[in-house]
Amino acid sequence: MPNVVIIGAQWGDEGKGKVVDLLTQDADVVVRFQGGNNAGHTLVVGGEKTVLHLIPAGILHPGKSCVIGNGVVADPEVLCTEIDKLKARGFLQDDGQLVLSLDAHVIMPWHKAIDIAREAKAGEGKIGTTGRGIGPTYEDKVARRGMRIRDLLDEQRLARKVTERSAAAREELARLGAAASWKDEEVVARYAELGRKLKPFARDAALWLHRALAAGKSALFEGAQGTLLDVDHGTYPFVTSSNTVAGNAACGSGVGPTAIDTVIGITKAYSTRVGGGPYPSELKDETGERLRKVGNEYGATTGRPRRTGWIDALALRYAARVNGLDGLAVTKLDVLTGFSEVKIAVKYRMGGETFDEMPSDLETLEKCEAIYESLPGWTEKLDGVRRWEDLPKNTRAYVERVAQIVGVKVMAVSVGADRGETIILENPFRK
Ligand code: IMP
Repeated sequence: MPNVVIIGAQWGDEGKGKVVDLLTQDADVVVRFQGGNNAGHTLVVGGEKTVLHLIPAGILHPGKSCVIGNGVVADPEVLCTEIDKLKARGFLQDDGQLVLSLDAHVIMPWHKAIDIAREAKAGEGKIGTTGRGIGPTYEDKVARRGMRIRDLLDEQRLARKVTERSAAAREELARLGAAASWKDEEVVARYAELGRKLKPFARDAALWLHRALAAGKSALFEGAQGTLLDVDHGTYPFVTSSNTVAGNAACGSGVGPTAIDTVIGITKAYSTRVGGGPYPSELKDETGERLRKVGNEYGATTGRPRRTGWIDALALRYAARVNGLDGLAVTKLDVLTGFSEVKIAVKYRMGGETFDEMPSDLETLEKCEAIYESLPGWTEKLDGVRRWEDLPKNTRAYVERVAQIVGVKVMAVSVGADRGETIILENPFRK
């Protein structure tokens, strides 16, 4: 059975959750493999809104399994709240539906405190993190001193590690001029309690996944954030602290790369970015404001207004390359209704120099302005359209032109927030 990876082809918030939710109908297992509760997926099913930060969107489908892989950093408070909320709404009635890797790293109170204190001190050069402790948790993981889900299940080990780690964190906070607000005994008691709540879900997720795939089940790997926020391939240092590209679906879950059959990149019909960093097609004018308003471009996790701009074909072509994209899904096409012209960034300009590909040097990228190709817009509402042929001619021409410049076919377009408001041109699970 096919295994499919879905990743963000821009700066995150591309509407991956919705596409994952839709394709889950054809998958057996949905897997998160990186990031943490810096992500937020807003899903609208039957007019009702659900925001998920850690649990894969597939949980809304009874009978499907969801995996939080080893590559994820999990805040147990957030995870337990999500579990409770889902249960209260009638989802996740069977604990076997959620598999939490024993090896996923845990976000501790000091990770959040350090994240926030560093950002507060950074001034102009701040990354604009979500303040959820993501970076400091990954730092501890790579420094081989992190705490994992398995550490929450053994109270003695937990107490020993909390004492060790909290002392180091206090020192770091003091250097940053911030105070530590936690008490070690309280952290041990609370995290042991959270460990007890999470125990029914915690297991060797890589082995579980291996067995599921060996038994002929198919998996959908759900990326968080986006390609340009990848710690290696994004606009470093204005990135998140994990690999967001498709290759990490394997490392972050424990399957081999040969298990993956198809990679789909999700892009909005325009672009957005949250936090600092270069963004050549950004619009700081009325058009940008209109995209923000109509597209409701405010962070699902932090509520921050997102920066907005036209779609950037160089960024998408780059995403196609580093992810090995088989196809694109274009979301929020309906937001472009009513613009007299729609634009695609097709080149960058810096002084007298032009670029056909995204420059890898941040300082160069920061000075680049986008050069656009303009296409005629459309006035028709799209939310009722269910077939590609029924989309306005100009809408199809726009999507086809984006695909042509990027060099990747379009597999789906979305014309509204609801699950049903999507046109699938090619379903990777039904090849
Ligand atoms: P962090 O992941 O909280 O460390 O934040 C690092 C950068 O990634 C900041 O610019 C954040 O705004 C951005 N970021 C993190 N998660 C998301 C996301 O899910 N969507 C969009 N931007 C994100």
